[in-house]
Amino acid sequence: MLNRRDLLKAGLFSSTAMLHLGGARFNSWALDGGKNPGNPNVIPFQASLPIPVTKTPVSPATLPGVPLFNDGIPTDYFSVNVHQALVQLLPGKQTLIWGYDGITPGPTFQARLGRRIVVRQTNNLPSNMNVHHHGGHTQSLSDGSALPALEIPPGNFRDYIYDNDDDVGGTHWYHDHTLDVTGHNVFMGLAGFYILDSATIDNLNLPGGPVDANVAGGPFDVPLVIQDRTFDANNQLVYNPFDHNGFIGNTFLINGAVQPKLRVGNRKYRFRLLNGSNARFYQISISSGRSFQIIGSDDGLLKAPFEATSFRLGPAERVEIVVDFSFYVPGPNTQVFLDNTMIQTEGRGPDGVDPTQPFHLMRFDVMDTILDNSTVPAVLETGLPVFNRAEAVRRRTFEFNRSDGAWQVNSRFFDPNRIDATVKLNTTEIWTLKNGGGGWFHPIHIHRNGFFILDRNGVRVTGHEAGLKDVFVLAGGDQVNVITKYTGAKQLGEYVFHCHNIEHEDMRMMGLFNVVA
Ligand code: C2O
Ligand code: CU
Repeated sequence: MLNRRDLLKAGLFSSTAMLHLGGARFNSWALDGGKNPGNPNVIPFQASLPIPVTKTPVSPATLPGVPLFNDGIPTDYFSVNVHQALVQLLPGKQTLIWGYDGITPGPTFQARLGRRIVVRQTNNLPSNMNVHHHGGHTQSLSDGSALPALEIPPGNFRDYIYDNDDDVGGTHWYHDHTLDVTGHNVFMGLAGFYILDSATIDNLNLPGGPVDANVAGGPFDVPLVIQDRTFDANNQLVYNPFDHNGFIGNTFLINGAVQPKLRVGNRKYRFRLLNGSNARFYQISISSGRSFQIIGSDDGLLKAPFEATSFRLGPAERVEIVVDFSFYVPGPNTQVFLDNTMIQTEGRGPDGVDPTQPFHLMRFDVMDTILDNSTVPAVLETGLPVFNRAEAVRRRTFEFNRSDGAWQVNSRFFDPNRIDATVKLNTTEIWTLKNGGGGWFHPIHIHRNGFFILDRNGVRVTGHEAGLKDVFVLAGGDQVNVITKYTGAKQLGEYVFHCHNIEHEDMRMMGLFNVVA
């Protein structure tokens, strides 16, 4: 396959070249003005919601050459075989994917704060790969950022060290991050959950927590990754590497199944929503119109839960919610849907919310009467970091702009050999992220640290955006100020920040920063 890097080398970036090479856009409904219609060939709610398997540790003795530690920090070892596989995404059909352990989403890592894990990733794909732990406070050489030096060639492996020395636990994920081809690789299936738990979170006794997990009829703590895809007539994934605006598909998968159903009981459930789509935004609500509680954002739980009936979920963002199904009478016909009301027909960004056109992403069948031992306490995460404006030693501004159909930061394309910012360990910085205009949306992700948003366009943010974040949505014309402190002496070296519309990222809307002691 000709990839973007080949194109960059060949200089094939004129619009004529794209016209000839790109051919017709494959998501035809976008051309005819369709409004998130779903895949016409799939009857929804046939498949049961898949729950990705939890990865089980192996003995380090089975991993020759793996790093061993004697610093007293408990360490678990894992081994992942990354390869192509035929799996069922569409009911009764076989689709070729690229998968961690040959499945998509990949297996879930259950990690704990203060407990290190080492993951050996072996590349049995036909091309290079690079694994990023999104949300992790990760050492530079294990961060899998889009640096060619960090790529794993076919037939090779790399051992990733995750210290799990973040401030708090949270719903992270991992995905491919190979320079210029991340969009394709993630689209093909290279993404999974990385859940970081902590004693603080255990003690909250949230749904599915340690006490509640023993109740039969679970799970009550359910990760949900939402991805849009497009399939050809042979049920195969079709990615257009020449669409630089952002991939928009017409088929909606939750945990790798098209519009699945989940049988639930009349009790509370914790759902960890991840937008794993390349370029699509969602507006999430529940079909009954009932409120739910929002309890978490990208990098951890909120200080306190709050009630909401809807929220926006930009690419790569995570929002944790607790839905209480005890308001419904269990029975064979009690059905509630998880809805998307965001209309989006192209990669530029969402067209807006249309509550009159809800699209059912999945269905909850409230059928069972199940005990509920869980709570949603009024105080959630007590360990969130505090970043002090007055301590900020540096302000930087990054403008995300478009140039000749490709994507830049401060009018420069990403160059893995150029450092765009040098940051000093244990200092506080305020970054201004600016949308360069044109009505384009850019969900900006910064590696290594969680941030708090100080304001968007001068206005304090609310809702899940007030939590600890690593993705910041810039709508057309937006300007967001974010603050963090670069703690963690193990985390020195190079990291990237970029647009998480992955096609924009692949077209070089990315920068490099270096953390120095
Ligand atoms: Cu989720 Cu740099 O990526
Ligand atoms: Cu962008």
